[in-house]
Amino acid sequence: MRPFLKWAGGKRWLADREELPSLAKFDRYIEPFLGSGAIYFHSMPKSAVLSDVNEELVELYNVMKDSHCELYERMCVHHASHNKEYYYRIRSERPLDRIDRASRFLYLNRTCFNGLYRVNLKGEFNVPIGTKASVIFPGEDFITYASALSSAEIIVQDFEVTLDGCGFGDVAFIDPPYTVMHNANGFIKYNENLFKWSDQVRLRDSVERATKRGCAIIMTNADHQSVRDLYKDILEYSSVSRRSVLSGSPNARGTTTEAMLTFGVDWSAAEPKAVDEPATASEIEGDDLLRGTAYSGSREFPAAMP
Ligand SMILES: C[S@@+](CC[C@H](N)C(=O)[O-])C[C@H]1O[C@@H](n2cnc3c(N)ncnc32)[C@H](O)[C@@H]1O
Repeated sequence: MRPFLKWAGGKRWLADREELPSLAKFDRYIEPFLGSGAIYFHSMPKSAVLSDVNEELVELYNVMKDSHCELYERMCVHHASHNKEYYYRIRSERPLDRIDRASRFLYLNRTCFNGLYRVNLKGEFNVPIGTKASVIFPGEDFITYASALSSAEIIVQDFEVTLDGCGFGDVAFIDPPYTVMHNANGFIKYNENLFKWSDQVRLRDSVERATKRGCAIIMTNADHQSVRDLYKDILEYSSVSRRSVLSGSPNARGTTTEAMLTFGVDWSAAEPKAVDEPATASEIEGDDLLRGTAYSGSREFPAAMP
């Protein structure tokens, strides 16, 4: 099953790849950096703890889980009303009702530029309108999403708290914002406003504690020497290649690699998988923007953006 959100750094491309170890043998699935939950929706584990620091994101999941009919009704209103003026009006609103807030979040995710999530220093969502006009997709059924989430515990929480609750029988799929240590000239600054290098170190320490309690780990991360060095004593490294854009142009496709770092997983049980699903240009652009641009805080988009 596919996620209902579009999310920068989303792992939909990994879901069908043979490099993803089987999750079948574990009692409980943990995802401390939830985003769109692409691997969760793909795997559909019996029991799960899903968490993220983004409060509105987690609220949307909980509304989808317990009030999908009301959410769908409000999405129908957004669908019927969508245009440029309506988008900016909804973007400027601060609904007090949780279902209104959740439907606003989902509406903006589906119609903003590349599904990006960015807020200014006041916490106001400030991504411009994108090109997608569909607010509800043909044949989309919110009951399916609600039932996929019915047995999951979905919480607003820093990753460290979530990982400190994991132990034997659990598998944690960990997909943090990709941040690498600065090189000498300070050129590499991927996502540093969002997730600092000190967070990567804190994550490594949390992961190490979890492995000592017997929790299995599947982590994706930047395929960078600083990250490989950080995990070299605790996780097994491999690299996964995927299609990407070169020079910021969706027409100049190339290949990039991401790191896969694991502990205690069962490679022999891996299911036969399909070949890499081609990413859409907008997915690639969204990732590319995030990797090259510190997007939280008050900075504006580069001038080239609409
Ligand atoms: C790369 S995205 C995860 C994408 C997800 N795997 C998917 O398939 O869509 C990283 C997520 O980490 C969340 N995040 C950032 N800092 C965090 C923290 N300290 N604790 C928990 N979540 C955090 C962000 O809100 C974002 O949703």
